[in-house]
Amino acid sequence: MFELQEVCKSYVRRGHSVTALRASSLTIPRGDYAAIVGPSGSGKSTLLSVLGGMLTPDGGKVLLDSVSIYDLPVAKRTSFRRERIGFVFQTFNLVPYLTALENVQIPLFLAGLPDDEQQVRAETLLERVGLGERLHHKPSELSTGQQQRVALARTLANDPPVILADEPTGNLDPDSRRVVLDFFDQLHAEGQTILVVTHDTFVADRAKRIFHLADGAITEQSESSQLRVA
Ligand SMILES: Nc1ncnc2c1ncn2[C@@H]1O[C@H](COP(=O)(O)OP(=O)(O)O)[C@@H](O)[C@H]1O
Ligand SMILES: [Mg+2]
Repeated sequence: MFELQEVCKSYVRRGHSVTALRASSLTIPRGDYAAIVGPSGSGKSTLLSVLGGMLTPDGGKVLLDSVSIYDLPVAKRTSFRRERIGFVFQTFNLVPYLTALENVQIPLFLAGLPDDEQQVRAETLLERVGLGERLHHKPSELSTGQQQRVALARTLANDPPVILADEPTGNLDPDSRRVVLDFFDQLHAEGQTILVVTHDTFVADRAKRIFHLADGAITEQSESSQLRVA
């Protein structure tokens, strides 16, 4: 499903070049549930952005369903990404002046779904993440764990086959973290491909495979302890 071939990426800041990713190769099969771990600054977010079609690498290729995404014209790449990839961020990225329901409706609106269908689908998704009683609350009226669940519902709105999550539990208390991780388990069981960036070993251990990143390079691939005990 995903294939990264010799991908590298540097940033230039105040005349200095920082290599964030060096000649990394990686294959993520369909239906995989993988974690990417590594210390702060090791290139995890860069890797995820490159995989997600949001950051053009300096060299190498990124294939998604055998399509080299950075060889697509920008508009095509954007629609390709919208159809296939759902993102979950540490900071949720909810629109503060919209209700939970309206936030979840955004991608459905962008996809051109009629208004009444947007509402029904958004309600169903919010019920699924346990927020059926909070449809008309704004983000500021929700706990951080609830906000992340709204963000998850929004990510799932267009039923993307791939979920890319960057530190999705970084701001959450243990209970909310568990809710999000249980949800990833369900999605994985339903066949979705999940890639989660984290520095939390508890989170990484829920995945099937763990990639270790150090100084912009994938240094190691291991099975999570979940598999070792299975
Ligand atoms: N927009 C940017 N401009 C300049 N340097 C950046 C930028 N984004 C990330 N970097 C640098 O690239 C390296 C990898 O960053 P990042 O991918 O965010 O790591 P991680 O997510 O593992 O903390 C770090 O050294 C970081 O300082
Ligand atoms: Mg990061």
